[in-house]
Amino acid sequence: MSAPDDDLDDHPDDHLDDHLDEGGDVPLTDVEELVGLACLAPSVHNTQPWRWRYDGHTLALAADDSRRLVHSDPASRNLTISCGAALDHLELAARALGYDVSRVPPGKGVLARVALRRATAGPVADADLALLRSRGTDRRRFGTQPVPPEVLDALCDVAATRGVEARAVTADEDRVALEILANRAMSLVDLDAERRAEQRRWIDHSTRDGIPRSQLPQDPDPMQARSRFRPDVVEDARLAARTGDRVIVLGGSVDDQDAWLRAGQALSALWLEATRRGLGVIPMTQPVEVDSVREELARTLLEDAFVPHALVQVGLPVGEKHPATHTPRRPVAEVLEITGEPGGRRSRAGEESDRGLPPARDGG
Ligand SMILES: Cc1cc2nc3c(=O)[nH]c(=O)nc-3n(C[C@H](O)[C@H](O)[C@H](O)COP(=O)(O)O)c2cc1C
Repeated sequence: MSAPDDDLDDHPDDHLDDHLDEGGDVPLTDVEELVGLACLAPSVHNTQPWRWRYDGHTLALAADDSRRLVHSDPASRNLTISCGAALDHLELAARALGYDVSRVPPGKGVLARVALRRATAGPVADADLALLRSRGTDRRRFGTQPVPPEVLDALCDVAATRGVEARAVTADEDRVALEILANRAMSLVDLDAERRAEQRRWIDHSTRDGIPRSQLPQDPDPMQARSRFRPDVVEDARLAARTGDRVIVLGGSVDDQDAWLRAGQALSALWLEATRRGLGVIPMTQPVEVDSVREELARTLLEDAFVPHALVQVGLPVGEKHPATHTPRRPVAEVLEITGEPGGRRSRAGEESDRGLPPARDGG
């Protein structure tokens, strides 16, 4: 269990009063199940940098700063984006299990606070739950079949529903320019011994977090999807314009914690929609991670229209899928603290949820 943090309880009760009835009818087994589903979200290096607390009325999400990548993510941008993705997963899971979801003011030190209320009876949205369970980072190479413009538009529209600007990079000139920027970011990261060591530490980190080496591309096929986990491969920038994948830039007018949280929600929503359409998604984070490259990206490719928060490659993966498709997750008990029970009782005490907790994804 995470170390208790009073901040997680520090919400303005006057606002919360409106939601006491709404938030009080969630069996703890459902709270655990929902948090388990939320934790299937993507996170930078699979650090899973989140903490949840249920007080009997609302579910609070806070960042776990002890899991921040201090060298590559000093401002907590990627940490907060990861938490935003988990928040979006939670809300989708809650709706799928038949809850109305509303936000209440989070309070100090809390990223978001969610109140859940049983909706009028409806079937469990199994397809949405299956989507949450099947999403993953598929680092196979992308094929040459281009992602159709209308699909890119649909993915950008999904991001917009979370209040995030999204732009697909499609013109050959822009794709080559982006590739050159990405190369520069990778080279700069590669020259930084501390960042390199930090990244290495999260490969085969444990059976609960980090990225199993078996999930990373092993052979230096120059057509393999670009990824931070392919050092020593010098990309020919022209290759970017020859594959069918496209990069979508997610961003906004400001560069702060709220904007990053929204970017994470948009990342989750976009990723799930791409998964539903059979597309692969790989975040391409270094151009955002390196300050000078991020600034140049904003100035040149985005013409200062908005600040980039995350970049994702989207395409049709080809080649044999690695049998181990999932990265591991920390047990729910490690990230969820329960400080109060609905109506002062554990509604389905000792009972297993009839839908079961998400399958443990130990060992990748
Ligand atoms: C903010 C963020 C940044 C990420 N950056 C990269 C990246 O640069 N390269 C990459 O291959 N994967 C990246 N990922 C994917 C994570 O490595 C992946 O989500 C994590 O290992 C969990 O695995 P899963 O997505 O298969 O569940 C990123 C994910 C997030 C949320």
